[in-house]
Amino acid sequence: NKPLLVECFNLFDFEFVARHVMKKTAWAYYSSGADDEITMRENHSAFAKIWFKPRILVDVDKVDYSTIMLGTRCSAPFYVTATALGKLGHPEGETVLTKAAHTHDIIQMIPTLASCSFEQIRDAAVEGQTQWLQLYVNKDRSLTKRIVQTAEGQGIKGLFITVDAPQLGRREKDMRSKFGDIGAHEQRSDNDVDRTQGVARAISSFIDPSLSWQDIPWFQTITKMPIVLKGVQCAEDAIKAVEYGVQGIVVSNHGGRQLDYARSGIEILVEVMAALRERNWQDRLEVFCDGGIRRATDIIKAIALGAKGVGIGRPFLYAMSAYGVEGVERAMLLLKQELEMNMRLIGATKISDLNPTILDLKSIGTH
Ligand code: FNR
Repeated sequence: NKPLLVECFNLFDFEFVARHVMKKTAWAYYSSGADDEITMRENHSAFAKIWFKPRILVDVDKVDYSTIMLGTRCSAPFYVTATALGKLGHPEGETVLTKAAHTHDIIQMIPTLASCSFEQIRDAAVEGQTQWLQLYVNKDRSLTKRIVQTAEGQGIKGLFITVDAPQLGRREKDMRSKFGDIGAHEQRSDNDVDRTQGVARAISSFIDPSLSWQDIPWFQTITKMPIVLKGVQCAEDAIKAVEYGVQGIVVSNHGGRQLDYARSGIEILVEVMAALRERNWQDRLEVFCDGGIRRATDIIKAIALGAKGVGIGRPFLYAMSAYGVEGVERAMLLLKQELEMNMRLIGATKISDLNPTILDLKSIGTH
C-alpha cells in the first residue's frame, strides 16, 4: 500500500513515504537532528523569510538552469551532498545515488563514511561522471593522505573537508534506537563501535578534534584538487578561508545534526556574501549552501544570494529508501521541473539572472 512513485509530487512526499517504509533504526539515523532539533527546523523555516520580486514581461520561452561548479558543467545548480551509511536505507547504498546522479547529470559528493567502498561507488559511476569526496580527517594523517591521494588518482574533482564536526552532535532519536550491523567502510574496526551511543557516534570516533587552520597548508601540499571547507558558519571564517587560499566553502550546519541553535545555511549565506562583496572577494571563493533545501524556490533563493550551488541530503536518502534509483531520479526531475517553472515566473532565463535584485530580504534582516 505504498503510494506509486508518480504520486510523489514534491520532495516532502518522499519523506512521508520513507517514514512509513524504512526500518526504525534507519529512519532514526537519517531524520534526526541535534538536541532539540531547533536548527534542523530552522533550516526549513529560514527560507520563508525570503520573498521574491519577480520581473514581468520578460521573454521566458527558453529557460536554462545549467551551471558550473568547481569547474564542472552540470545540468542544475544542486548536488547530492555527502550522507553517511547509505545501506541503512537501501541494500545498494550510495551506488543508488550515483546512478540517479548520472541520469540527471548531477554531481555526487561521496562520504568518508559511505557503506559501499569508495571503489564500488567509483565503479557505479560512468566514465566522465563527476564526483567529489567528503573528508572526515582521521587522527592518523597517513590514512587521510592515502584516502585523499587515492581519490585524486581516481579522478575525483573536489575535496570537501568537513569542519563542523570535531565531535559528532547528540542526536537523541538516533541514540535511542538499537542497531545491528552498520557497515561503514574503511575507517572503523569493530572495537571502535560503542553500540549504546546510536549509529552516528559509534562510527565517528576516528575523527580528529585537533584539526585546525594550521592543517590547511598541509592539505594543499598533498592534493591539487580544489579544497572546500564544509560547515562554515560565519563571515569571519569565510574571510579566513580566502586568506588560507582554499577554493570554496559550504555554508552549512550539517543538516541541523551538530550544534543546536546554529544558524541556517541560507542566513549565513547572506552574511558571508556581504563580507566577501565588501572586500570584492566574491570571485575568490565558490560558496555553496546546504540544509533544508526542499523546493526549487529554496535553490533559487540561495543562487540569487550568491551561492554557486546547493547540497541536498535527506530528500535523496528518503527517495532512495522508498523507491531506489527511480525514486532519486524522480526527486531530481521534480526539482528540475520546479526550477524551470519558478524561473519563468520570476522572469529569469539563466543562472546569471538570479541575483539579489529578485529578492526581498527585509524579513531576514539587512546585512
Ligand atoms: C549527513 N551529513 C554529513 N555531512 C558530512 O560532512 N559527512 C557525513 O558523513 C554526513 N552524514 C550525514 C548523514 C545523514 C543521514 C544526514 C541527513 C546528513 C550532512 C549533509 O552533508 C548535509 O550538510 C545536510 O544533510 C544538508 O541538510 P538536508 O538537505 O539533509 O536538510
